[in-house]
Amino acid sequence: MATNNLKAPAVALGTWAWGDSGETGNGYFGSSLNQAELKNVADNAHAAGFGLWDTAMVYGMGRSETVLGQVLKRFARSDYQLSTKFTPQAAGTGDDPVADMLEQSLSRLGTDYIDLYWIHNPADVARWTPHLIPLLKSGKVKHVGVSNHNLSEIEFANQILGEAGYRVEAIQNHYSLLYRASEHAGILDYCRKAGIPFFAYMVLEQGALSGKYNAENPLPRGSNRAETYNGMLPQLKTLTDKLASIGQQQGAAAPDVATAWAIAKGTTPIIGATRPNHVDGLVRACSITLSSDDIAELEGLADATGVNTRGWWEREMLV
Ligand SMILES: NC(=O)c1ccc[n+]([C@@H]2O[C@H](COP(=O)([O-])OP(=O)(O)OC[C@H]3O[C@@H](n4cnc5c(N)ncnc54)[C@H](OP(=O)(O)O)[C@@H]3O)[C@@H](O)[C@H]2O)c1
Repeated sequence: MATNNLKAPAVALGTWAWGDSGETGNGYFGSSLNQAELKNVADNAHAAGFGLWDTAMVYGMGRSETVLGQVLKRFARSDYQLSTKFTPQAAGTGDDPVADMLEQSLSRLGTDYIDLYWIHNPADVARWTPHLIPLLKSGKVKHVGVSNHNLSEIEFANQILGEAGYRVEAIQNHYSLLYRASEHAGILDYCRKAGIPFFAYMVLEQGALSGKYNAENPLPRGSNRAETYNGMLPQLKTLTDKLASIGQQQGAAAPDVATAWAIAKGTTPIIGATRPNHVDGLVRACSITLSSDDIAELEGLADATGVNTRGWWEREMLV
């Protein structure tokens, strides 16, 4: 009954920042993005062969999905894949809040199916997971995954779907040099053994690992990401310098190496590209070779920063 296996790309594109309103200080990222430039991001991605776009209804409460739908509409639907999410905390009060949220996402994205639909977090695995089954049966959702779940929650979701002939086809968790909880909790190993793609989000720690931001040039003031990361930028310098120097040897930049690290660890990084040239970085990231010594050194420097970048929405993985 399960559909064809999900094929994970080398890199996926994330659009949380695309939900920012564009007004300074108003939005999670404090980014002033405009649709014309995001169209260029999509053009570059399309030309480079990157076609899996991750969003969620809660990114800008519909704005991210709306903009994404607008910029992708000139491509053939079969040329790109859409990944969006049901967020339990935003559930409505109808009979089937999952189906209702999906319908709204379909409408904003201007499509009649979602390639990869996620339960955004493990707020109530027993309650929400079964709602995915009719969506799979109807064909409105081609594949399903779970995000921010720990190992026992993944196994529970898999059991629920398994009873109907389906399965958890993808995992999406925070995974970066600075935050390796899913690795320490055995989730990466589990995915490798079960052949389940692991999608790593916030690989660049929302820009803090890009090397572009430092104490003199901090993340946009007034934004949520500035609040999280600006205080730790001085501790990150040794690591971002190392990312840059490894990159230099291969004609690449710090964020490309951070992305290449996530690829080398067997994951599909979801990178929140906001500028057309970020896509060039993703192309470079796909051809960077990191030695085991490079990886060990980067992880050692990351551990030595002593920072904890667990998002406010994330629970500890080691439970
Ligand atoms: N499932 C979940 O709970 C969850 C949670 C978080 C994220 N996600 C998904 O994962 C995606 C990625 O996470 P994220 O967007 O929060 O953070 P991210 O990918 O770690 O960082 C994105 C930021 O880094 C900068 N950037 C992006 N690409 C770059 C490049 N190639 N070179 C240099 N700088 C670059 C941009 O900042 P500037 O614009 O300032 O340059 C951008 O806003 C999200 O968009 C979303 O789709 C999922």
